[in-house]
Amino acid sequence: MKRIPSLFTASVAALVLAGCNQAAEAPAEEAAASTGLQSLPISINASMVGITDQSADFIWAVGNGDLPRDDHDWDQVRGAVYDMILTGQIIKIPGTGEFDAQWAANSDWQGYADELTQIGQDALPLAEAKSEDVAAWRAIGDRLVENCLACHELFKPEVPSQGILHEDTERESRGISIFD
Ligand code: HEC
Repeated sequence: MKRIPSLFTASVAALVLAGCNQAAEAPAEEAAASTGLQSLPISINASMVGITDQSADFIWAVGNGDLPRDDHDWDQVRGAVYDMILTGQIIKIPGTGEFDAQWAANSDWQGYADELTQIGQDALPLAEAKSEDVAAWRAIGDRLVENCLACHELFKPEVPSQGILHEDTERESRGISIFD
């Protein structure tokens, strides 16, 4: 439990203002140890499409100037940021995919995955403040693109291992808001 004191000394103000966010700050190993989670019930490919890509779409939307219009929209953005923080840790745990175990065991993979979590952590204050600083969101989005591309270049098979694909975000490509 050595993270407790540092959490208190480093983030008392944040905790008081924003409530408890220990889960977001817990290292992966500790999370895995405390839940005993050794494997996931779905593939990394499915997590990638369902959580990683899904959450990235909202972060990129705001960076592209598609700003949330009300608290409901901001709720979606904040949820996407939480998902991004989580997905970096989720894809470090092998699931049911053919190559999951070998990917998760690779140190480059682990590094890129941790970076996703870090980018999410860096976006969280913006989401919590409902920041309309498009340039700041765009900077986060740019870091995300680089992260996705770098990992895909190293690991993504030419033919998706399971055929689980994500459709292009058609609304965004047609200039229609991601928000309902
Ligand atoms: C740690 C490595 C890693 C990172 C980081 C990563 N990906 Fe992936 N991604 C993969 C691998 C490997 C596959 C292929 C999975 C398969 O075929 O089983 C994949 C597959 C996908 C797919 C499904 C296949 C397709 O072409 O539609 C999407 C969508 C996707 N990634 C989006 C993203 C986005 C968006 C990001 C960044 C926000 C990202 N990924 C970051 C490794 C990564």
